[in-house]
Amino acid sequence: MPHPPTPLENARRRSADLLAEVHADPGRFRVVTGDRPTGPLHLGHLLGTLVNRVALQRDGVEVFVVIADHQVTTDRDDPGDVRGAVRDLLLDNLAAGLEPGPAERGGAAVFVHSAVPALHQVFVLLLGLVTEAELRRNPTVKAEAAAARARPGGHRAVSGLLLTYPVHQAADVLSCRGTLVPVGQDQLPHLEIARTVARRCNERFGGGGPVLVEPEPLLSPVPLLAGTDGRKMSKSAGNSIALRASEDETARLVRSARTDAERRITFEPDRRPEVAALLVTAAACSGATPEAVAEEVGDGGAVRLKAVVTEAVNEHLRPLRRRRRELEGADDHLRSVLAAGAERANEAAGGTVARVLEAMGLGV
Ligand code: TRP
Repeated sequence: MPHPPTPLENARRRSADLLAEVHADPGRFRVVTGDRPTGPLHLGHLLGTLVNRVALQRDGVEVFVVIADHQVTTDRDDPGDVRGAVRDLLLDNLAAGLEPGPAERGGAAVFVHSAVPALHQVFVLLLGLVTEAELRRNPTVKAEAAAARARPGGHRAVSGLLLTYPVHQAADVLSCRGTLVPVGQDQLPHLEIARTVARRCNERFGGGGPVLVEPEPLLSPVPLLAGTDGRKMSKSAGNSIALRASEDETARLVRSARTDAERRITFEPDRRPEVAALLVTAAACSGATPEAVAEEVGDGGAVRLKAVVTEAVNEHLRPLRRRRRELEGADDHLRSVLAAGAERANEAAGGTVARVLEAMGLGV
């Protein structure tokens, strides 16, 4: 018996069609995507999402990027230096090639949650459209809840914000009327909640006409980049190459990566995951295959491998880092980018609030 397609299979198939539709008529789409300001972005973000955003913008799609400062405390009590992290996110996006500016000129809107109150009004209105059971089934919520229970030295309760986080993310997308959300696999269940909530709103209150736009996921084609320890690259694991790192810091981080004692370098992800992670990193940066990089290193062992990786990464990031340094001093410019982005997000979200209130028969 053929099994029904999984959400992942569906999303893969649909993403290919969507890309063709985007190329045929980019004006039909609006991308909404974003990140939580919990630290500077790294090479994995660049290859996995930033490059994608920039490409969609260059294809002519309107892009909204949310810097999700209201979601920082979903999984931590201490928000840390959020303002510094907001600045890092903005710089990373702009340095990667995202062009901010007015919609008429194809510019992207970059905004911070705290500057868009209407988005949170949408969030509250959406909360009534989802059940507690649906939220508890969300894999991220489930995983965070399990991690909270397992935390050594005491129990950290699951906050209301964590439980409702997928709806908050839905509010990011739905308030700005996004049609396309470029995501990695791990974000698919969040998007499913956004779609469910939009559909329910339209069924219950739309009287046939759409109140909210049902967004679609666009799976990024790039595989997950492993960190310098062979595990998933992550801001918190200390195994990632930050975009903003200097060339020396990059060299140091790569040098500290775990490898093995075999002199001959080969690409064998199962048997030599740490070596494979380094080869994939160098390959992604230089446009070669991991096998070709391994061939190039040959019998040079870990020392030569790391030198090759460092060179590939630093060379690939050099133009981005140069742009980033230029922008770092431009405080007024950075502020005005966020102000202009907030204005566009406020306009979109304000319109969505009005529609939902009207459809639900709320307000005066
Ligand atoms: N939850 C996403 C992450 O942790 C970040 C995010 C916030 C986002 N709002 C969004 C992604 C809206 C896409 C659309 O990576």
